[in-house]
Amino acid sequence: MTHIKYKTDSFPLGENQSVLDCLTGHGVPVPFSCRSGACQTCLMQATRGTPPEEAQRGLKDSLKLQNYFLACVCHPREDLEVALPSDDSQASVPATVRGLKLLNDEIMQVVLQPHAPIEYRPGQFINLFRTQALGRSYSIASVPEEDEDIHLHVRRLPQGRVSGWVHDELRTGKTVQVRGPAGDCFYVPGRAEQGLLLIGTGSGLAPLYGIIRDALRQGHSGPIRLFHGSRDRRGLYLMGELNDLVREYTNFDYVRCLSGPDVPHGYAGGRAHDVALQEQPDLKSWRIFLCGHPDMVNAAKRKAFLAGASMKDIYADAFNVSQST
Ligand SMILES: Cc1cc2nc3c(=O)[nH]c(=O)nc-3n(C[C@H](O)[C@H](O)[C@H](O)COP(=O)(O)OP(=O)(O)OC[C@H]3O[C@@H](n4cnc5c(N)ncnc54)[C@H](O)[C@@H]3O)c2cc1C
Ligand code: FES
Repeated sequence: MTHIKYKTDSFPLGENQSVLDCLTGHGVPVPFSCRSGACQTCLMQATRGTPPEEAQRGLKDSLKLQNYFLACVCHPREDLEVALPSDDSQASVPATVRGLKLLNDEIMQVVLQPHAPIEYRPGQFINLFRTQALGRSYSIASVPEEDEDIHLHVRRLPQGRVSGWVHDELRTGKTVQVRGPAGDCFYVPGRAEQGLLLIGTGSGLAPLYGIIRDALRQGHSGPIRLFHGSRDRRGLYLMGELNDLVREYTNFDYVRCLSGPDVPHGYAGGRAHDVALQEQPDLKSWRIFLCGHPDMVNAAKRKAFLAGASMKDIYADAFNVSQST
């Protein structure tokens, strides 16, 4: 039987059990969120033994070389001795909170200045840690060539352990730990005349705002269409900034979608992905970006594919929320 050694304890790994389940089942405080290898919150390091290749998928080469792995998708066939990344390891970077600003009633812009450079593309995400055992993924809204710091948009969830802490306790000047970046939801230059369709709900605007500005900055000349959705007007934000971009760039347009009963003049009625697909029913040769609520992302992915988009042209980040402690 395979064993997982953590500090002075050795735990038998059950059949089909992940290293994450094994350790958390014995009370080891390993942080996690998605449990599916997507968010990288559960990063650990093998200090003896080799983690399986599939547990290193999506990690930077520098982390792979140091035997880092994702505990939630790690099913080793040999004994492993493992450790959590320490705050001073290369896996995480301290960052100073340079600003906090409410963008609407429930979304906080967090401006972070990392103490060491973090190379990212707008739309990727980083993991923000409240404690060593509690971290969450947040998408990057800033553009490194335009913004000095890293900008996140954190939506408050009721009883949200990290989002609630960001809204209620985090203060300017405080130092936090961040990890990353990760994810492949970003603009890749090339095919400048291709249409870009971006659909987001709530704080799903964060990565899209970064991607749009990055594409425009890099001279994307094809149409760029953003559909941002919420139930009511209070859930929308950055309307002034987006309208400024509409005025500045003739190839960019922006539709505000409201799925609730009250739809004032100037807004489209319906869910963002339904409105987008009605206005843009043929997506053959379009590039699609979908971010926000997982139900929207999954439904929109299917619809975009059926409307002619190629799967390799669909980039998506579902903001999956941790399902248990
Ligand atoms: C790749 C990726 C990128 C992400 N980017 C962002 C981002 O840019 N901005 C952002 O705000 N979030 C983003 N998220 C979500 C974020 O990582 C957290 O999951 C979120 O902030 C909640 O964490 P929490 O600790 O506050 O809540 P938790 O303590 O984990 O959960 C709080 C409770 O809320 C419940 N809940 C779940 N969904 C809802 C809902 N829609 N309304 C009310 N309650 C709900 C849960 O069941 C849970 O009981 C992203 C997620 C992923 C995977
Ligand atoms: S990658 Fe393991 S919990 Fe998200």
